Amino acid sequence: MTAFTIEPLHRDFGARLTGVDLTGDIADAAIAAIDAAIDEYSFVVIPDQPFDDARQLAFTRRLGEPEPSHVALGEEGRIEYFGTIGNVQADGTALGSDHRKTRFLTGNNLWHTDASFKPTPAKLSIMCAYETPSEGGETLFVSTRAAYARLAPETRQDLDPKIGIHDYVFSRSKVGADAVSPALAKSLPPVRQKLVRRNPANGRKNLFIGSHVRAIEGMPEPESRALLDALVEQSVPADAILAHAWRPGDLVIWDNRCLLHRGAGYDADKHRRLMRQTRVSGDGPSLTE
Ligand code: SIN
Repeated sequence: MTAFTIEPLHRDFGARLTGVDLTGDIADAAIAAIDAAIDEYSFVVIPDQPFDDARQLAFTRRLGEPEPSHVALGEEGRIEYFGTIGNVQADGTALGSDHRKTRFLTGNNLWHTDASFKPTPAKLSIMCAYETPSEGGETLFVSTRAAYARLAPETRQDLDPKIGIHDYVFSRSKVGADAVSPALAKSLPPVRQKLVRRNPANGRKNLFIGSHVRAIEGMPEPESRALLDALVEQSVPADAILAHAWRPGDLVIWDNRCLLHRGAGYDADKHRRLMRQTRVSGDGPSLTE
């Protein structure tokens, strides 16, 4: 029997799991317990896991279907399950803040949910920390389930049927006009997503918003933009934020269906940061949930 200790981290969401060893054969009961913790807490950190890419991919497969990186697929037609978050490259060198790749990653410093611009948005992100800056480099999270619950009942009713248009080219244009190559842009046309989603396991609803949402379908542009900005603003007050300060060995799993997150930033000219990220695909388009 799996005996995890679950320590809640924030009044809204988040938990630290200890007593978990994910290095050997992982029992089905352990995976079921992690799955249940994700549905309940949305963010789970399991410290001190000596992972490598092979273990991370095997673990990712236990939680669902790994999601190919949209960048490798769109630019090169290649299936790649890993993304590097940080400035440390495969050869061990670190890129400075002026490098194109470092600037591209600053798009992650806007509140977002991973891969919400795909027809089937990502369900989970899994990130293993290897090198972490001594200053900065936290990832900030908020629960859009809690944010939805804080809204007035009539606002919730009004938002429930709305559709958001998620557009990767729009969101990445915020970090530079050259951020998305023509091939990548062509592979990721805008998609329609529910503005309010519902967790199938526990029925709890949440906002599905963030930097990738360009517009709300059927609303005039200025109102749509104002509403989207206000929803993000209301979701991220300081006391709603869980700031995760990474330590090497951290394995973090977060639920993209109901969290917003963003990088807090760090000085890439002074610090090294290396995280490896995989994702688990959603069960299908949000519109069919
Ligand atoms: C991410 O957006 O997936 C990571 C953000 C970060 O901590 O840099």
